[in-house]
Amino acid sequence: MKLILRSSFTVLIALGTLCAQWAQAASPSPDQLQQVVDAAYARFKDVTDGKNADYIPILATVPSDMFGVVIATKDGKIYSAGELDYVFSIQSVSKPFTASLIMHEQGAKTLREKIGVEPTGLPFNSKLALELYPERSVNPLVNAGAIAAVSLVEASSEEERWRKVLGNISDYAGRPLNVLEEVYNSEYESAWSNRGIANLLYNYGRLYSDPEEALRVYTKQCSIGINTVDLAMMGATLANSGVNPKTGKRLLDAEDVPELLAIMATAGFYDESGEWMYSAGLPAKTGVGGGIVAVVPGKFAIATFSPPLNEAGNSVRGMKAIRYIAGELGVGLYGPNHEE
Ligand code: DON
Repeated sequence: MKLILRSSFTVLIALGTLCAQWAQAASPSPDQLQQVVDAAYARFKDVTDGKNADYIPILATVPSDMFGVVIATKDGKIYSAGELDYVFSIQSVSKPFTASLIMHEQGAKTLREKIGVEPTGLPFNSKLALELYPERSVNPLVNAGAIAAVSLVEASSEEERWRKVLGNISDYAGRPLNVLEEVYNSEYESAWSNRGIANLLYNYGRLYSDPEEALRVYTKQCSIGINTVDLAMMGATLANSGVNPKTGKRLLDAEDVPELLAIMATAGFYDESGEWMYSAGLPAKTGVGGGIVAVVPGKFAIATFSPPLNEAGNSVRGMKAIRYIAGELGVGLYGPNHEE
């Protein structure tokens, strides 16, 4: 009897220890979060690889040395280092959030059928992708799918379409946001490639509004100004199953969050998405303005801002910092990553 009691006790202790270890891995302490953010900032702030985007002329003028790293937890706590206040253009990081608007308004099935969810494995502005895939199905995180997404928003005027897109992204950030007019003008004046994409989509019946209207609303969406904390809060909303931690507003049904994260995991880095999942193991989205947001489902989001990009259009310091944080905290979805 004594022996049975003693072994049960030993098993309980072992289980307790395992649970404590699991809980620690599952929820890093505030000190751990601040330390890892500080360490990531210190480790990569002097990296000089990459180059600002210049195909949108004004982006080349953003100071390249700015670097911000923020973690926002699903209950809205912020851990930060570096540049937090600079307002930069959201660019492609906006794309999953407008995809979320379509899912919320019209259901996940509509997004899948009318735009697609297949990673193209091609650059973000590829026209070839539209020719390659059956029914011109791409995904809402490349330019074609994102232009189609704004055209799909239910609206009876361009103004209403734009208000809905801006309102949704503001709700994700938890505060009212605005367009950076200089960025919008610079991008719209040079938007020949995206205009081509919008017209091609229209030709194939895969654009759901007037092409030039969709192009204008999409370009405005990409020109919305955010800071690194806004971006982290947007990601934290997805980590919190679709509810903004700051405002308590639900922006996406909890059951649709996994699908959206799956698209981010497979297409968030365009033709570098495999490389990203291999080395970081987190659903994430990048933008040519220098922002990246990665989501650790059910826990927190990591956001970075640093303008110099690699060849695929992804922020060099940002990728390094997020990979480092994911590795240090062991939060990669498939287990701890060993590659930086
Ligand atoms: O449409 C464009 O080309 C830009 N507004 C957005 C591209 C972008 O951010 C690609 N991301 N890395």
